[in-house]
Amino acid sequence: MYKLLLRPVLFCFDPERVHNITFKLIKFLHFIPGIGLLIKSIYLNKNKALEKNILGINFPNPIGLAAGFDKNAKLYKELSNFGFGFIEIGTVTPNAQPGNAKKRVFRITQDSGIINRMGINNEGALSTIERLKKNKSVIIGGNIGKNTTTPNEIALKDYIYNFNELHPYVNYFVINVSCPNVKEFTQLQDKKFLLELATKLEKINASKKKRKPILLKISPDLNNNQLDEIIEIVSISAFDGVVATNTTTLRNNLKTTSSKINAIGNGGLSGKPLKQSSTYVIRYLSEKSNQSFPIIGVGGIHSAEDAIEKLNAGADLIQLYTGFIYEGPILLQKINKLIIENLPKN
Ligand SMILES: Cc1cc2nc3c(=O)[nH]c(=O)nc-3n(C[C@H](O)[C@H](O)[C@H](O)COP(=O)(O)O)c2cc1C
Repeated sequence: MYKLLLRPVLFCFDPERVHNITFKLIKFLHFIPGIGLLIKSIYLNKNKALEKNILGINFPNPIGLAAGFDKNAKLYKELSNFGFGFIEIGTVTPNAQPGNAKKRVFRITQDSGIINRMGINNEGALSTIERLKKNKSVIIGGNIGKNTTTPNEIALKDYIYNFNELHPYVNYFVINVSCPNVKEFTQLQDKKFLLELATKLEKINASKKKRKPILLKISPDLNNNQLDEIIEIVSISAFDGVVATNTTTLRNNLKTTSSKINAIGNGGLSGKPLKQSSTYVIRYLSEKSNQSFPIIGVGGIHSAEDAIEKLNAGADLIQLYTGFIYEGPILLQKINKLIIENLPKN
């Protein structure tokens, strides 16, 4: 129904506006008694076989909502009714920031992709925390970053601030050092910076009642040497795993005309065109590290088969963003069904 009726209408309008209106609509619908339960009864697949214990967390199923969709933790409860096993909020920065100038999100429908240069617009850590305080049952990943105005040389303080503030309200952390839409942000994937950050965050972790796992979110545009360095960083530091991957700055093998792509301009590309390179990164990290740390696989999952491919490449959990927009919530049902079908029979 989504692809046939709703999507053609939604895709007539600006993607960011559609995103904001859909948020309000889902929120409004949930005020009607019984709607939340109805959505749950349609989409939620409660099956023991889908449960996964990773990072010391018991996930009800391995499908998460990727960062950037519910940046300000405004809709995590309602979105979880569509069957997500966990929701990653953020990227959150210490202070609210507007992000880049609009228009900054573009669909490239011929390729089932999105190009965005949002620039980590968000309402800031403290207002996000207020909403997370109401959370009772949803598994939350806290994706954190630095403010655009904070120079890289002092970026540590932003991550430390976010980590401290969000610590009681999230189940795991993701350190975003791979956003292509903020100047020099991806330079934070630097070994010295990351090792120092890991040490500082772990010290805070040790002072808290419960330790929270920390993952690094990396770019699909890293070369093999850089990926080797990521493996080394994770194996010698307090980082627990990797989220692979963020969006790509590359524009390879697209069906969309180059004049349209050029007119869109800078931004991170997500969706189907990202599938291969993100799977490559997942497989490389998994094989080269001998599966020594958990990987959350994200990038171009638009079908149940794509999800299985990510899991087979070495992902322990997966996340959706662009595929959820193009395929709708039925994608989660399809993935869970195929996962169950693929389980070894005994
Ligand atoms: C509009 C948009 C905004 C995003 N914002 C963030 C963000 O704030 N932080 C982040 O780590 N990733 C962000 N992402 C990246 C996604 O979390 C995901 O890594 C990427 O889109 C690849 O997955 P997909 O192909 O399923 O979309 C964003 C993606 C999109 C399309």
